[in-house]
Amino acid sequence: MGKHSMQAQIAAEAGDLVTRLRDKSNGGSTPLKLHDAFDVCVLNSLWAMLAGERFALDDRRMMELIDIVHVSFRVIDTCGGLLNQMPFLRFIAPGWSGYTRLLSVLNRLWGFLRETIDEHRKTLSPGCTRDFIDSYLEEMEVRKNETDSTFNDMQLVSLCLDLFMAGSETTSSTLGFAVLYMLHHPEVQRRVHDELDGVVGRSNQPTLQHRPRLCYVESVIMEVQRHANIAPLGIAHRALKDTRVMGHFVPEGATVIVSIWSVHMDRKHWGDPEVFRPERFLDGKGGIVHDNWFMPFGFGKRRCLGEILGKSGLFLFFSTLLHNFSISVPPGHRLPSLEGSDGLALSPRPFYASLVPRT
Ligand code: HEM
Repeated sequence: MGKHSMQAQIAAEAGDLVTRLRDKSNGGSTPLKLHDAFDVCVLNSLWAMLAGERFALDDRRMMELIDIVHVSFRVIDTCGGLLNQMPFLRFIAPGWSGYTRLLSVLNRLWGFLRETIDEHRKTLSPGCTRDFIDSYLEEMEVRKNETDSTFNDMQLVSLCLDLFMAGSETTSSTLGFAVLYMLHHPEVQRRVHDELDGVVGRSNQPTLQHRPRLCYVESVIMEVQRHANIAPLGIAHRALKDTRVMGHFVPEGATVIVSIWSVHMDRKHWGDPEVFRPERFLDGKGGIVHDNWFMPFGFGKRRCLGEILGKSGLFLFFSTLLHNFSISVPPGHRLPSLEGSDGLALSPRPFYASLVPRT
C-alpha cells in the first residue's frame, strides 16, 4: 500500500488538482465548490492501483463511479442498516427495507468492475503485471488446480469493491473537512503556509520526503481527523464466538460497534476535545506526539488496510493544495458549517471557497 510507484501517482494527481483549480478559480475571483473537489484525484489514484489507468476529467464512467460511491455511502449506515440485522426482510419487503435501492447501486458497481476485469483478462500478458487486477488474475492461474483455492472471479470483484469503496470516500471527505477547518481557522492556515514555505521552498512542491520536517502540517491533518471523526463508529463487526471483553459478555453473532468518536472526544484524556488545536499533537521539540487515543483508522487486527496509503494521500493532497493556494470564505458567503452529512462515513456538506494562488 505504501509503494513508491503509488506515491508518485498521488503526487501526479495532486499536481493535476492544482492546475485544474487554478484554471477554474480565476485568480481567486470565482468561488469554487470545494466539498467534493478531491473526488476525482482520490478516485484516480485508487483506480491506478486497481486497474492501472486514470480517467480523463470528463470521462462518463468516472462521473458514474463517483456518483455510485456517493449514493452507496448515503444508503448504507454504520450498523449495516436494518437489512444487516434482519436479512430476511429482503424477501418480504425489498422496497421498504432499502434492499432494492442498495442492489441497484451495487449492481452498477459490480457491472463496472466485471467489465474492467474482463478487459484485463483479454489483454493480460504473462510477466507484465500492470496492476492489482493483473496480479490477482496471475495468482488465480497459478492456483487453478488447487481444490481449496479461494482465488476466483467473485472474490476479485468483492476485493476491488472493498478497496475502492473504503479508500475513496474516506480520503476525499477528510480532505474536504480539512479545507473547511482552514476556513474556520485562518491562523492555522497561516502557520501551515509558513512551515511549507520554510521547509519546501516556493520553487518546489511538497513530497513525502519533506514529511518528517513538516510536523505542523502533520499535526493539522491529525487534528482534522480527530475532530471531524469521519468514521465515528468505524465499521461494524460481528462476534464469531461468545467472548468476554473487560468483564462484558459479548454473545456469538452480536454486532459490535466501536465508538471512535467517544475516544476522540474523551474529556478526561484530551482536556478540551471540542477545541480544534493541532498543537496537542506536537511534543514541543519539533516532533509528533503518538497518542494511543488517536485512532481514525480503527484499532486491532481489523484496523484499516489502507492506512499508509490513506495517510500519504491526505498529506500530499493537503500540503500541495495549501502550498499553492490561500483559502478563504468568498465575499458575501457565510462561514460554512462544520457539521457533516450522515452515512457510512461523514462527509462535508456543500460549501464554496475562494482559492487565491500563492506566488
Ligand atoms: C483517510 C482515509 C481513511 C480512513 C479515515 C479510514 C478509516 C477506516 C476505518 C475506521 C476502518 C475500520 C477499522 C475497524 O473496523 O476497526 C477502515 C477499514 C478499512 N479500510 Fe480504511 N480508511 C481510510 C483509507 C483507506 C484506503 C485508502 C483504503 C484502501 C485502498 C482503505 C481500506 C480499508 C479496508 C479494506 C478496511 C477493512 C479492513 C478489515 O475489515 O479488515 N481505507 N478504514
